Amino acid sequence: MPADRPRTDSTHCLVWCAAIICAIITFGVIVAGVVTFIGYQVIHPKVPYVSVVDAHLDTIRIDYAGVLEVQATINMRAENGNRKARARFSHLLFHFSLDGVVLAHLVGGPFDVRKNSFVDFHYVAQSTPVALGPEQEELVDTSLKRNLIAFNLKGGAKARWKAGPLGSIKFTSNLDCLLRFHPLNGTYIPSRCTSSAS
Ligand SMILES: *[C@@H]1O[C@H](CO)[C@@H](O)[C@H](O)[C@H]1NC(C)=O
Repeated sequence: MPADRPRTDSTHCLVWCAAIICAIITFGVIVAGVVTFIGYQVIHPKVPYVSVVDAHLDTIRIDYAGVLEVQATINMRAENGNRKARARFSHLLFHFSLDGVVLAHLVGGPFDVRKNSFVDFHYVAQSTPVALGPEQEELVDTSLKRNLIAFNLKGGAKARWKAGPLGSIKFTSNLDCLLRFHPLNGTYIPSRCTSSAS
C-alpha cells in the first residue's frame, strides 16, 4: 500500500510560516497602494501650467516692399491646482512667429501663484518691422483676403512647488499653439492652448 512520505512537524511549520509571511507582505503592498492612491486623490495635485485665455490682433500691416508690422495682445494664465503648496513660475519665454519668422520674443517671471489659484498676465507682442520673403508675403496677402491668419506661439516656463522641508518639485511647461485671428477686426478665434509638462 503506497503511503506518503511522513512529514515532520518542523516542515509543516516552515511552510506555514513562509505562507503567512508572504500573505502579510502582499497585504502590506496592497494597503500601501490604496493609501497612496487615496492620498493622491485627496491632495489631487495638478501640475502647474500656463495657457492662452484670450488674444487680440491689434495691428497688421504689410507695405509694398513686403515689410510686415504686427501687434497682438496675448492674455495668459498661470495656474496652480495644488491645494497644499504655492507655485513659483520662472523663465517664461515665448516666441511669437508667422510661418517660421519670429516676430517677437516674450519673456516674464519669476512670480508666485498661491495654493489652488491662478495669475493672469498679458503680453503685447510687437514686431519690429520685418522684411518677408516673397512666399511669406503671399501668405500674408491671402490671409488678409481670407480674413483669417494664424500665428505660432511656442515656448515654455519653469515651475516649482515648494514642498516644505522636502525641498521643491520642479516642472517644465511647454507650449506650442496656433493663434488664429480675423485680421479685419482683430478678433481671436479661441482654441485650446495649454502647456504640457515634461
Ligand atoms: C469679427 O469678424 C468675424 C468674421 O468676419 C466675425 O465672425 C466676428 O463676430 C467679428 N467680431 C467682432 C467682435 O466684431
